Amino acid sequence: MTHESTPVPGTGTAAAAPVFSPALTPEEGAAAATDLFREVFGCEPDGVWYAPGRVNIIGEHTDYNGGLALPIALPHRAHLALRRRDDRTIRLVSPQTRETVDVLDLDVIGPKGTPGEVRHWNAYVAGVAWALEQDGLGPLSGFDAALYSCVPLGGGLSSSAALEASTSVALDEVCGLGLAGTVEEPDDAGRARLVTSCVRAENEMAGAPTGGMDQSASLRCRAGHALELDCRTGEVTQVPFDLAAAGLALLVIDTKAKHSLVDGQYRARRAACERSAKVLGVELLADVDVADLDEALARLANSGEDNADELVKRTRHVVTEIDRTRRLITLLQNSRPLAGQTLAEVGALLNGSHDSLRDDYECTCPELDVAVDTARAAGAHGARMTGGGFGGSAIALVDVDKVDEVARAVVASYAEAGFTPPAFLDALPSAPAGRLA
Ligand code: GLA
Repeated sequence: MTHESTPVPGTGTAAAAPVFSPALTPEEGAAAATDLFREVFGCEPDGVWYAPGRVNIIGEHTDYNGGLALPIALPHRAHLALRRRDDRTIRLVSPQTRETVDVLDLDVIGPKGTPGEVRHWNAYVAGVAWALEQDGLGPLSGFDAALYSCVPLGGGLSSSAALEASTSVALDEVCGLGLAGTVEEPDDAGRARLVTSCVRAENEMAGAPTGGMDQSASLRCRAGHALELDCRTGEVTQVPFDLAAAGLALLVIDTKAKHSLVDGQYRARRAACERSAKVLGVELLADVDVADLDEALARLANSGEDNADELVKRTRHVVTEIDRTRRLITLLQNSRPLAGQTLAEVGALLNGSHDSLRDDYECTCPELDVAVDTARAAGAHGARMTGGGFGGSAIALVDVDKVDEVARAVVASYAEAGFTPPAFLDALPSAPAGRLA
């Protein structure tokens, strides 16, 4: 990246050049985590395990409705240097907390809201050990662990799922669970079991009622592929996603607008979907066929529920989003490399997803909308928010030679709007969780 400045439209002032958040190489990540481990615990770790953050291409707020999602793993990862202990103590440290090692006891920790509640990021690490035991995979031993992550925190890129997944593959190996296989030869069925425990940790220990897409992405994606995830059955299909061969790039725009999945908005969306399903007499909203959507929406509108309008909007998003996801997957599978009319259709589906999340699911925010509108106006084939929303990140599908231009346009729009400058990531479909060293 160069560091020249460009005039901001309408202001005559100069905007800074786009700042890209680099991913550490595996060697850099392993070295940083190992150095911290040695410094704090004074011995060698048994190894370093890592797990990626993710971006979701399409299929947003579909996972807890039993629908489809299509995430890729990022090259940005959480690295965990870990050493098994002979007792039930867990000691955790990160660069932010290196002065104070957190000490926990596997026999004492418990879900959020109970006396054993675990605070902050410790809930994602110790929580996985707790959840594995709850899921019948214990008893486990305690461990010492040092975290070094380059997944942007609060960027909607699943920094917490990366923590959970890295802990799960580390414990899988040091405690001899034998579920994960290797990065080169992953055991997908075993990883699906680890996903279950990671989701349990997030739901019960951290108190975030999320749906499982993030943990599945971190553990079950493959390099060069997007993961078609059927969230009802847990079945996955690897969909080739070689953007470079098509002269394309997926630009991630971290809006820097903080989002939190622990807060009430995500929970409220999920509750509205569950209510809609109940009113419609289906188990999950994925059971509503898009061909029957109008009829379903009419029933909700006339249901007499206090929030009937809300239920109509949320349901319309979920059912049309599952349909968009299915159509986009078909386009990817049938057209390689992505070009011409097919590329235009993919872009339109991405745009349709964002518009639905903005208008019907009401989970965008000004920073996300400005990023998406600007990217589209600057020549992106399609752009949308990704992840839970209410802040976090957006993605834009752009020609490789337009990445810088689109990023610069977003920086300029943010300056004009008075927003905190965004950061950017290059979303190369990367490898799932595994062992590094
Ligand atoms: C967050 C949650 C996921 C999923 C997405 C929205 O990332 O963790 O489970 O619900 O939001 O698609």
